Formats: sequence, C-alpha cells, structure tokens
Amino acid sequence: MLVAIDGPAGAGKSTVARRLARRLGFTYLDSGAMYRCVALLSLAAPGRQPGELARAAAIDLGGGADGSGPVLLDGRDVSEEIRTPEVSEAASVVAADPAVREALVAKQRELISGGDWVAEGRDIGTVVAPQAALKVFLTADARERARRRAAELGADVDTVLAEQAMRDERDSARAHSPLRAAGGAVTLDTTGLGVDEVVERIATLARAAAPSA
Ligand code: DC
Repeated sequence: MLVAIDGPAGAGKSTVARRLARRLGFTYLDSGAMYRCVALLSLAAPGRQPGELARAAAIDLGGGADGSGPVLLDGRDVSEEIRTPEVSEAASVVAADPAVREALVAKQRELISGGDWVAEGRDIGTVVAPQAALKVFLTADARERARRRAAELGADVDTVLAEQAMRDERDSARAHSPLRAAGGAVTLDTTGLGVDEVVERIATLARAAAPSA
C-alpha cells in the first residue's frame, strides 16, 4: 500500500510522513532528498546537464521506517550537506527541469513498486503514483510554515518567509508537474495542529483506505 503526502515546504510533511511510516510499519520515501542530491551535484559541476547528473546519480535514501539512515550520494554521506539554504535554493531550480524530474520519477517509481510506503514530496499523488491508495495534501498558513522552518534552522522568520514565498511560487508556477493537490487527495491544513494529531488523522484515513493497515 502507498500513502502519498504532498504539499509546500514547511507544511510538516517530513515529520508527519516519517512518524506515520514508523506508526504503520511502512517505509518512508523523502523524494525531496533526491532533488537535493541532484542540486548538490549540479552546484559541484555547473557545466553538466542536471538531467544527465540525475540519471547517473546513485542515490540511497537510507530507507527504513524512520528514514533515519544516512543519505548516500555516489557512496558519500551527504545527509547534512543537502539541507543547507544554498542547496534548498538550487533544488528548487533543478526541480523545474523536466529531464531531472523524468529521471527521479523513474527512480521513485522503481523504489515504491514493492512493499508498503509513505512517500512524501510535491508530485507523488499527481505524477509519481496517482494510483496511491491514499493521497494527502498537507498545507499550512505561510507564516506558520516559515515560523516552523525558522525554528528548525535557527534563522529569522521574515527572511525564511521571503525565501519560502519565492520557492513556493517557483514550485507552483513551473510548467512541469507544478505543486497542486492531486485528484482525490484529502487536503489537511495543519495550521494550529500538533504533529501527533496530524499523524493520527492520516493513520485513520489509511486504515479506512486499506483495512489491513
Ligand atoms: O521537500 P524538500 O524541501 O526537501 O524539496 C526540495 C525541493 O525539491 C523543493 O524545491 C521542491 C522540490 N521537490 C519536487 O519538485 N518534487 C518532489 N517530489 C519533491 C521535492
């Protein structure tokens, strides 16, 4: 069974998806980490086509229900490096490249073809796996999302809010696989909700979608 969780940055997708996977005994897929890996490669080799880098990259997300394993890129642990603001920015740029998306979507489909997964990203329910048993679109008020990110990064809320607005715009306005709720997705606004409450709601929906979950 597959639970697809999409939504903008800071809506709580990663924390929620990771906890939900642990709770259901499913494997967690952080598709954003794959775009971040390609961004890192692209920053290191600006002359190369990002699509080519995406196709050639060996990305190992660590797997496991808690997704706590290191992210390995061509055998190197890049778990920390892919979370810098510079890579966040570059990831949003390479994610608009159709060749990058094609390569990473193929890798994601191959991964989730067997077993039970909670997959998180921007296009899981719309493009990667429209057949997912449960599709959730997580959102939250823009300022609340910026506040959460700023607390995580130890950064200034207004700076994060401005950068977030640019990335939201780029992710939503791009021609290829723009961020939007999938047909049949349940939209959940997490503003003012605690993580446990959100996980509980999605677990209930997952049980209803597949009684054995
Ligand atoms: O979720 P994140 O912040 O780690 O994602 C990094 C970037 O990759 C972000 O700009 C959105 C993009 N992304 C995407 O376009 N499609 C996905 N399935 C996941 C992430």
